[in-house]
Amino acid sequence: MPDRDGPIEAAFLPYGKQEIGDADIKAVIEALCSGWLTTGPRVSEFENAFAAHCGANEGVAVNSGTAALHCAMRAVGIRPGDEVIVPAITFAASANAALYEGGVPVFADVEPDSLLIDPVSVGMKITPKTKAIVAVDYAGQPADYDALHELVRGRGIAIIADACHAPGATYKGRKTGTLGDISCFSFHPVKHLTTCEGGMAVTDDAGMAAQMRRFRNHGIDSDHRSREASGAHAYDMTELGFNYRLPDVQCALGMAQLARLSGWVAARQRIAALYDEALADIAEVVPLKTHADRTNAHHLYVVKLAEHVDRDRAFARLRAEGIGANVHYAPVYLHSHYRKLGYAAGIAPVAEAVSKRILTLPMFPAMTAGDVARVAAALKRATA
Ligand SMILES: Cc1ncc(COP(=O)(O)O)c(C=O)c1O
Repeated sequence: MPDRDGPIEAAFLPYGKQEIGDADIKAVIEALCSGWLTTGPRVSEFENAFAAHCGANEGVAVNSGTAALHCAMRAVGIRPGDEVIVPAITFAASANAALYEGGVPVFADVEPDSLLIDPVSVGMKITPKTKAIVAVDYAGQPADYDALHELVRGRGIAIIADACHAPGATYKGRKTGTLGDISCFSFHPVKHLTTCEGGMAVTDDAGMAAQMRRFRNHGIDSDHRSREASGAHAYDMTELGFNYRLPDVQCALGMAQLARLSGWVAARQRIAALYDEALADIAEVVPLKTHADRTNAHHLYVVKLAEHVDRDRAFARLRAEGIGANVHYAPVYLHSHYRKLGYAAGIAPVAEAVSKRILTLPMFPAMTAGDVARVAAALKRATA
């Protein structure tokens, strides 16, 4: 249950919120007392358990979802000048990861009703320089992976799944974590499970997993534990990597959280169904579409407002009522940094139009039916 001191009306409802329970605290204390603070046995334990949860062979734990995306870019071989297709509507990290390797983000448009990357737009943006597509499972719904795989067949283009919003979601019965060549997850506190900060790259490709394990550890070919086990002191740095390691203590938290992940996804789906029902009679508000061949893990609950509604006024009115509405996202290429790189309005017209009409409503597993009713009533007033 949410920790509230006052009456329900007085409580601020954030758009997302982690749950930390006794099992998490116990696991973290045990790890703290174990002698392993950074890379220890809990790292591979968490990697194996999370990869198994996804139905994939390998997990590489790193200290953010962004680091997972960067590892993936290196593992699929992005080199300076390579083009990487990214949906216009996503968190900046999906595109930034390509920039880190000297790649060139090419922004594809999104489907107007789901805000998922539009395969038709992707098809139009592929060139001989395209080396990867980042498929973002926006708000918790998987992208259309069959259509994307069809587009890249035989062309040497990798699919990196940015599944940061979607652990536990499915596409045609297949789980996120198995849908791209590499799938990236985030364990930031607003996400489904948290390690405070953290992330994981998941793949069936043992070679790519080994490469990502080196890359997260400065590009060094062994780690402290493996050298201790073999009694060796020498190591080689085979490429330039980073320190993206996720500490043992945080992996202990991740393990404890993972035990509750399926229950949290189910709770989010129940809350989404309550929202769908509560918003059905508000003509100004339309929830995003979930495709019939997918299940949605509902990291976010996003609605589209009617064109005549002033979105920013509705946002301000909700905030004034203690509802932590948010906006995910403006098109990435409209950020100042991307404008400095030469990107400009007009690249993804659907994304540009729809992003001005969306609002994210609070969504976290501890929300009650009363919370949903409160948000719906406030939204009705805010959009009237
Ligand atoms: C779609 C998407 N990709 C990548 C990331 C980056 O994850 P992190 O914050 O763990 O670096 C996020 C986090 O918000 C995200 O929403």
